[in-house]
Amino acid sequence: MGNNLLRGKKGIIFGALDEKSIAWKTALKCYDEGASIVLTNAPVALRMGEINKLAEAVKAPVIGADVTNMDDLKKLFEESMKHFGGGIDFVLHSIGMSLNMRKGKHYTEMDYGFNQKTLDISAMSLHRVLRTAWDMDAINEWGSVVALTYIAAQRVFPDYNEMADAKALLESVTRSFGYHYALKKKVRVNTVSQSPTRTTAGSGVKGFDGFIDYAEKMSPLGNASSDDCANYCVTLFSDYSRMVTMQNLFHDGGFSFTGVSEPVVKQMEK
Ligand SMILES: NC(=O)c1ccc[n+]([C@@H]2O[C@H](COP(=O)([O-])OP(=O)(O)OC[C@H]3O[C@@H](n4cnc5c(N)ncnc54)[C@H](O)[C@@H]3O)[C@@H](O)[C@H]2O)c1
Repeated sequence: MGNNLLRGKKGIIFGALDEKSIAWKTALKCYDEGASIVLTNAPVALRMGEINKLAEAVKAPVIGADVTNMDDLKKLFEESMKHFGGGIDFVLHSIGMSLNMRKGKHYTEMDYGFNQKTLDISAMSLHRVLRTAWDMDAINEWGSVVALTYIAAQRVFPDYNEMADAKALLESVTRSFGYHYALKKKVRVNTVSQSPTRTTAGSGVKGFDGFIDYAEKMSPLGNASSDDCANYCVTLFSDYSRMVTMQNLFHDGGFSFTGVSEPVVKQMEK
């Protein structure tokens, strides 16, 4: 049982693919904290059928939407507001996809057509979601929007490829739209910069096993799990973080501010 931190709140959760997904864990936590939820994912992901298990567990309808399609997004918000009988209090954007990585293209030889699609799905989609909500006045005052990101937006992690640029753009949209939405309706928009996590999207990064072990050794608290990430998102959707907006919030066990750690130095001395 949770602590009713989200009692009476209504939210849309994008990106629950399977039970490893950060969005999946977040939906469970939000439900546990008293929220009502609508689940959404791309039609191709819905065809896997896994999401129906989650929908049953959190008593949520599932509404398909390709996040690059404005008609789909409009329909999603319309149907969600109808389902809730009013506006939306929180949105989780938990979406990422790199076409160049999928096709095995190195950063230095990227296909620009693929790159455009990657930026649209992984970054501009946040603008699309916010714009749709803005046009329909769908988010309630003091509503909260969270998108997930990674520290490759600030520092070079070579195998993160074009997703580094996508995350930098995502974080910029967060600040820029966050400014306008705060003025218009006190809606806050933030990114959570999460530790590497074993999910479908995460495991798509080349050399992921070495990468996750290195991050574990470099983080004084260890890597943050997807359950911890879900808990953090709950606090950002709750009324206990009302004055936080336009921020990139590191949720990484201290990785982002550690220069080097003793376990890594010891390993180098071997
Ligand atoms: N796993 C990690 O190591 C890690 C670390 C930091 C940040 N993140 C971020 O967390 C978020 C969630 O990823 P995850 O790790 O839970 O993996 P995941 O694969 O479970 O989730 C990615 C989701 O994006 C959805 N998606 C892709 N294209 C879409 C489209 N066109 N329309 C709608 N949805 C679409 C997928 O269906 C999937 O549900 C992503 O933004 C990812 O970059 C992940």
